[in-house]
Amino acid sequence: MGKENTMNRRAKGTFLAAALAAIFPLAYGSIERPSLLPTPPMGFNNWARFMCDLNETLFTETADAMASNGLRDAGYNRINLDDCWMAYQRADNGSLQWNTTKFPHGLPWLGNYVKAKGFYFGIYEDSGNLTCGGYPGSYHHEELDANTFASWGVDYLKVDGCNVYAMHGRTLEEEYKHRYGHWHQVLSRMEHPLIFSESAPAYFAGTENRTDWYTVVDWVPVAGELARHSTDILVYSGAGSAWDSIMNNYNYNTLLARYQGPGYFNDPDFLIPDHQGLTADEKRSHFALWASFSAPLIISAYIPALSKDEIAYLSNKALIAVDQDSLAQQATLVSRDDTLDILTRSLSNGDRLLTVLNRGNTTVKSDIPIPWLGLTGTGCTYTAEDLWDGSLQKISSHIAVQLATHATAVFRISLPQACSKVVPTGLVFNTASGHCLTASSSCSVTFQSCNGQASQIWQVTSSGALRPLSQTAQCLTVDDGSVKIQACDTRGSNAQKWTYAVTGNLKNAKTGGCLTEGSVQMKTCLDERNGQVFGLPSGVQLS
Ligand SMILES: *[C@@H]1O[C@H](CO)[C@@H](O)[C@H](O)[C@H]1NC(C)=O
Ligand SMILES: *[C@@H]1O[C@H](CO)[C@@H](O)[C@H](O)[C@H]1NC(C)=O
Ligand SMILES: *[C@@H]1O[C@H](CO)[C@@H](O)[C@H](O)[C@H]1NC(C)=O
Ligand SMILES: *[C@@H]1O[C@H](CO)[C@@H](O)[C@H](O)[C@H]1NC(C)=O
Ligand SMILES: *[C@@H]1O[C@H](CO)[C@@H](O)[C@H](O)[C@H]1NC(C)=O
Ligand SMILES: *[C@@H]1O[C@H](CO)[C@@H](O)[C@H](O)[C@H]1NC(C)=O
Repeated sequence: MGKENTMNRRAKGTFLAAALAAIFPLAYGSIERPSLLPTPPMGFNNWARFMCDLNETLFTETADAMASNGLRDAGYNRINLDDCWMAYQRADNGSLQWNTTKFPHGLPWLGNYVKAKGFYFGIYEDSGNLTCGGYPGSYHHEELDANTFASWGVDYLKVDGCNVYAMHGRTLEEEYKHRYGHWHQVLSRMEHPLIFSESAPAYFAGTENRTDWYTVVDWVPVAGELARHSTDILVYSGAGSAWDSIMNNYNYNTLLARYQGPGYFNDPDFLIPDHQGLTADEKRSHFALWASFSAPLIISAYIPALSKDEIAYLSNKALIAVDQDSLAQQATLVSRDDTLDILTRSLSNGDRLLTVLNRGNTTVKSDIPIPWLGLTGTGCTYTAEDLWDGSLQKISSHIAVQLATHATAVFRISLPQACSKVVPTGLVFNTASGHCLTASSSCSVTFQSCNGQASQIWQVTSSGALRPLSQTAQCLTVDDGSVKIQACDTRGSNAQKWTYAVTGNLKNAKTGGCLTEGSVQMKTCLDERNGQVFGLPSGVQLS
């Protein structure tokens, strides 16, 4: 896309863009040109299944299989190479070269091959001077490499973050920002900017002090179209539990919903449908959860050998439509207890999505009350479609679910015109501790383990009030520097008015302070400190 178009996009702007625009003052943010990648990418990548064991045959066989087994037509239209495709040396003129044993016909040939089959072609590099596998990195060669990739027919670039060190007086976080910001500028100047998949946040995940990780996830939506925020999904040959790995990346994704919108996607990593450690329900859950998030759906498996059942669930049209919904809203947690996670979001035609995951080890039955879905109408009947089997049911007070261990149900709920009002509803939780904001009948407010009770489910009104579903006439209030619930003031007192920023801060309009988990509940807002970053329900407007 050309610059003129980019500027039009910028003029239109979005809430998120306005909040983030100052991060790279001289560049246009990716989030400001959502037309480059309006909905999350779908396709194939070799890494989690084959790691460095890649070659031309693997990619041609995969493209052939996806074209004939229906996956391409279901929307999986990208064939992406990961690490280890290169020769160990750059050419004399400095250009990257492919390994000619692995790719005897060369990458331009392979690019043409997959394009002739109806796919886009993607590639991998690294922002350090070596890739994770020890091949030449792009550091100081960014422009040359971007142009080389474009000349090979590539339109999608994953830039990893191995072998990056703090230098020139910058902190490590500043060094990543500098390098990914430079990549952003290089790609933005191209006639056809490559889609930019950023691995930067993953290098800051998992520390107790999350400030640097939060800071990186603040700038990646400006620099690129998607970002790998956390650990790699377990590879095929890796030791450990594939389900635990999926749950780990799922959990990370729940912390970051506020960043996502058309043009930028949180990336919890690959789908691994042929991993031997997963049950059929676990594989289906993985797909259904990623679709509920509108996450990238990049399959890493030996596709020619996938079973009919695996191809059938991966091709589920209704779930893919959710993944590719133009709102690109990420489902957020309404409720969580020891076993059940309940998530909701809106879809572009006004429908609500309900996703229920059984994290527990036994079958669970639950009746989920309609107000938990953000639906506030009285006397309304809604139609819920089960997206696994297409069955329809009428619901008016609750929806009944029964789930086997590690299974996920997904319902698409259509709202009659008279009952179409949605109030963002769900957990308010600290994304570092995982603790939920909890109201009590004595009007105190505490942070507790999430327990599946209505006292932890908050409605966020359009005027910025927060009310627990256990006591909807009470609002979250700052009183004498502490936080409690008090009768909602119909005149909209500032002590009950809150704004939510993309940084995750929840700021009170009266005091200007931020909600803080800790012994004191209100403090001066500081940059991205653990106690002040919260997850709120999808649909809350960002300040
Ligand atoms: C290509 O890679 C696949 C997967 O690792 C392997 O099974 C196959 O033997 C390789 N083919 C060639 C020609 O090297
Ligand atoms: C190319 O790949 C082959 C086969 O995997 C490997 O033996 C060889 O060392 C590689 N050559 C270079 C230059 O990376
Ligand atoms: C470098 O050399 C290769 C051939 O070895 C050629 O394909 C490529 O276009 C050259 N790159 C530049 C930037 O001239
Ligand atoms: C990579 O960068 C590090 C740190 O700047 C440096 O020590 C090392 O020599 C570099 N390696 C190569 C292959 O350039
Ligand atoms: C957490 O990390 C940030 C950024 O590196 C630092 O400024 C802050 O002091 C750290 N906080 C604590 C409590 O150690
Ligand atoms: C389920 O079982 C696994 C393995 O025995 C255990 O580690 C895990 O804590 C259990 N999960 C729940 C939610 O009970």
